[in-house]
Amino acid sequence: MQYNPQPPRRPPNGHRRPMAQGAPNPRANPQNPPRVRRDASQDYARRKAAYERQMAEKRRREARRKRKVQIFWGRVLVFFVILLLLAVVACVGFALYFNHSDPPPEPTTIRYTFNGDDSISLAEDKAYLGGVLYVDFSDLASRFGLVAVGGADEMRFVIPTGDETDSRGSGSEEDVIFRRDSDLSTVNGQDVRLSGPAVLHGEHYLVPADFITEYMDGIALTREGNTVSIARTYTDEIPDALAFTLKRAAAVDPLPEDTELGDIDPGAIIPSTSVPGPSEEDLVVTFLTDLSAYEEYMNPADRNAYLILVNNDNTVDETHKPTDLTDLADTRKDGRNVQQMRLYAAKALEALYIEMRAAGYKDVSVTSAYRSYAYQTSLFNMYTANEMKKDPSLTLAQAQAITATYSARPGTSEHQTGLCCDMHNLGAADVAFAKKEAYTWLTENAWKFGFILRFPQGKEDITGISFEPWHYRYVGRYHAKAIHDAGLCLEEYLTPAGN
Ligand code: DAL
Ligand code: ZN
Repeated sequence: MQYNPQPPRRPPNGHRRPMAQGAPNPRANPQNPPRVRRDASQDYARRKAAYERQMAEKRRREARRKRKVQIFWGRVLVFFVILLLLAVVACVGFALYFNHSDPPPEPTTIRYTFNGDDSISLAEDKAYLGGVLYVDFSDLASRFGLVAVGGADEMRFVIPTGDETDSRGSGSEEDVIFRRDSDLSTVNGQDVRLSGPAVLHGEHYLVPADFITEYMDGIALTREGNTVSIARTYTDEIPDALAFTLKRAAAVDPLPEDTELGDIDPGAIIPSTSVPGPSEEDLVVTFLTDLSAYEEYMNPADRNAYLILVNNDNTVDETHKPTDLTDLADTRKDGRNVQQMRLYAAKALEALYIEMRAAGYKDVSVTSAYRSYAYQTSLFNMYTANEMKKDPSLTLAQAQAITATYSARPGTSEHQTGLCCDMHNLGAADVAFAKKEAYTWLTENAWKFGFILRFPQGKEDITGISFEPWHYRYVGRYHAKAIHDAGLCLEEYLTPAGN
């Protein structure tokens, strides 16, 4: 530190005032300064240093004190801010608590949605009559393009065909008649009983909801809690048909539950002797996934158990229904019924889907599998009607012949065996699926799971059916590999050359 000499307030020489600077001291001798003056100067320096130490200490103490004061007030501030926040929260809580009053309970209403968006509601006492769920059929008709004809006592709802000769002219038009306060209804000219009377609500006809599930195709109705969802459904088989159908059980005899496959021509189950069968080694397959639990299904011990030929020459009895039908988890989830196949085919298909997904093909789903004789009949008739509509000059037989090239006649469809399924990743089954990578994967891998492409390209003359890249048939791995490797269709494999 720089020393800035300041004269002591009271100089040690006893003068009250400091001598003027630069003024010579008359008693000073520069060669030999007096001792008393040297002591005074040292004393002065000591006192000054002490003084400065004292001042520094004082400044430090002052700084410490100020810091403590600041910390104290900071804490006080934080405390009060927290207190304020707590007070605000408490006030809001109290305000809410004391101002809260339960809203009046809403009357229960049933909400109806159409195609997932539009919705209407009915009060519970209108939506349920006698414990039966009702729907506003007038509303449904207007949303789905049905024409309403009639008045308060009797209302006829028509599915228009667009055909001028219709409305009782050609007879292909479909309709239902509801009568006010009556459970007698008429579907396509045939009287049926509803599960409750049709009632008039304003100008709208309310009818039991199960009418839709029982007597209509092309519309699905599901209920979850207080929401009833009504939606148009489009399937491969019924791409756009909206139809009234008679109760299937009434139109078709019930199918016996325990019918076995004896009704299928047993002569057809012998494989061609000219096709070499695969060796045991050929049947060992490695997969990306662990499918060991499925091995017994993909490669059944009884090799010929599923080697059945169903076609125009080998028919299935009307009453035939497999007893081991099993739900398919990979059914397309678009409102259609869960599809089913026979147990071994269903499990093998499950394995195929696990592996197909692991290979990166995740959007393929099953659109159709087991079909009853009655359902195949309704499909065949519907397609035939479409053919006649497209070309009115066709006779019924001609239209049926065209239909039979892509939809098997009832009794000739292997869909009734529960051993095949249609699967693809398109909106509807189409040959465009053959251009998809998933199709390529299936053609290369389906045999490993026991499946063959049933109606291949180039074999139309033999199968009688046009190319269906979506239709796969379970035969078990042994025969599937033989058929795949030989490039045959099932008819060729099961009918030895020369026979
Ligand atoms: N589409 C196939 C041929 C069937 O209807 O069985
Ligand atoms: Zn098919």
